[in-house]
Amino acid sequence: MYTQGLDVQKGDVSIPLEQGDSELERRFQAKIDADEKIEPKDWMPEGYRKTLVRQISQHAHSEVVGMLPEGNWITRAPSLRRKAALLAKIQDEAGHGLYLYSACETLNVSRQELVDQLLEGKAKYSSIFNYPSTTWADIGAIGWLVDGAAIMNQVPLQRCSYGPYSRAMIRICKEESFHQRQGYEIMLTLARGTAAQKRMAQDALNRWWWPSLMMFGPNDKDSPHSAQSMRWKIKRVSNDELRQKFVDVTVPQADFLGLTMPDPALRWNAGSGHYDFGEIDWEEFKQVLQGNGPCNRERMRDRNRAHERGRWVREAALAHAEKRRARAAAQTTAVAAE
Ligand SMILES: [Fe+2]
Ligand SMILES: [Fe+2]
Repeated sequence: MYTQGLDVQKGDVSIPLEQGDSELERRFQAKIDADEKIEPKDWMPEGYRKTLVRQISQHAHSEVVGMLPEGNWITRAPSLRRKAALLAKIQDEAGHGLYLYSACETLNVSRQELVDQLLEGKAKYSSIFNYPSTTWADIGAIGWLVDGAAIMNQVPLQRCSYGPYSRAMIRICKEESFHQRQGYEIMLTLARGTAAQKRMAQDALNRWWWPSLMMFGPNDKDSPHSAQSMRWKIKRVSNDELRQKFVDVTVPQADFLGLTMPDPALRWNAGSGHYDFGEIDWEEFKQVLQGNGPCNRERMRDRNRAHERGRWVREAALAHAEKRRARAAAQTTAVAAE
């Protein structure tokens, strides 16, 4: 909006709106270009704030919904060791959700709002969690591929321009690499086990490979927000570059397992120094994104149920905090009266 001649108050100085905004934006972009962090109290363009709220909240929701396909296997883990590792991993994911909701709250949005958006089915989360986990090998494939793809996406986010998000990502990435390894170790055990176990591992790879590649989002040419996010250094590496990197590190890992990638077009390209791979089924991607994946409804039902079941815990914690606050206030009054 051009508002020549109209003066508005910006802090203590009266400056023309147009000039003021562009000057603030110039300084904001200069800070980003110099690789300095933007902190919650700093001025930021509304578009930057909104983009971050969208991205961080979707990320937080993904961590929380991501617990569901794995939670499905806690009671059926094949040994105590596997069960302990799986429980620890799922708890880490809950923690990731919490750091991310906290980071999002620094952008002037309440946690209640974010949680409500998820429970009402208005918020997006990573589509990968709308696929079922039907065998124990899926727990291996999820750790290896889904957490592996998540790491690929999240490592550059440690250098994101928004301070609270980038700092949350540092700890999250450390934990994700443990998740990836425990998943790979499950796959390795199955791949070296009986013929039936190896078949189970291959089947899980067949089902999780393509959805994992979809986790990097649409191709760069179809990704409308990417350029602006790159300028703002919210996003630092493009979808296609990250996907290629993931394919390049994961194919040799599958070879080591003695498993076959479910992609007849996959081959090493000596010229480019990368693997070439087949076209993703974007129609499937679109369908799952629109809510028509195999488990979209089930996930929302389970998340709502879990939220309802946890209500008494939240209420008890609030009542306890209120009691402590009242007791502290009464003591202060008593001391003051003495
Ligand atoms: Fe996570
Ligand atoms: Fe993880």
